[in-house]
Amino acid sequence: MLQGKQVLYKYEHGSCVECGFSANQAEYEPRMHRRFHEIWRLGVKAPIESGTILVPAWGNSRLVKYVYNMARLAQEENGYDFSSFSPRSDRDGWKRYKTMAFLKAMGGRFVGYAVVRMTSTFGNYNWQEGKVSYEEHNQRLPLVGMIFTCGSKRRKRIARSMVTDILNHYRVGLQDLVWAVPFSEDGNPFLKRLYNEETIKVGYV
Ligand SMILES: CC(C)(COP(=O)(O)OP(=O)(O)OC[C@H]1O[C@@H](n2cnc3c(N)ncnc32)[C@H](O)[C@@H]1OP(=O)(O)O)[C@@H](O)C(=O)NCCC(=O)NCCS
Ligand SMILES: [Zn+2]
Repeated sequence: MLQGKQVLYKYEHGSCVECGFSANQAEYEPRMHRRFHEIWRLGVKAPIESGTILVPAWGNSRLVKYVYNMARLAQEENGYDFSSFSPRSDRDGWKRYKTMAFLKAMGGRFVGYAVVRMTSTFGNYNWQEGKVSYEEHNQRLPLVGMIFTCGSKRRKRIARSMVTDILNHYRVGLQDLVWAVPFSEDGNPFLKRLYNEETIKVGYV
């Protein structure tokens, strides 16, 4: 929504329709919203031009900060709680579950990110009934807790390419990747497309 140099934001249900920034806060701090909105749209400035960086949650704090800044974008847009990868979470938990972020850079910005951890609690999701079942297993599989592509880069197969990175890293096929439920408004059609409505394994963060 560009009009000359002025950007017009649309608010609904108390927040920006696109980035989710609170309308109330935007009224008092319009500059903060403008800045946040641009980062949500374009991505977080990255220390590399392109490629994917793997960041263990307990790892290099400079890189963890990038993950945190990406996580904030998804958090604001969808109203998530990111205790699984926030600076406040416990390091033992991260190590036990091997919580890992995948940061994808393009054009000098991180335009996508995914958070993955290991889980032994998973089951199948029924697309038609929206029903979930969980069981404990002996095997641990990677669970995608969050996947996010910045606003202006959506529907360009960025999330799909991050899924490929994840499958390659863990050496599993799509059928052995677990997804955190509930699926979001974007997540549901994205995963339906990825799985052609075939069985999908689900777990929880
Ligand atoms: C869900 C999300 C990560 C998808 O990212 P993306 O980079 O746009 O996805 P891709 O372009 O790789 O999509 C892969 C396929 O799914 C389809 N798809 C993706 N989002 C879709 C949507 N909202 N509606 C319909 N189809 C969609 C794409 O068209 C593409 O199909 P194709 O491979 O045949 O071209 C992104 O919309 C997002 O960040 N949303 C906010 C955070 C969120 O809700 N995350 C999911 C939590 S479960
Ligand atoms: Zn906004």
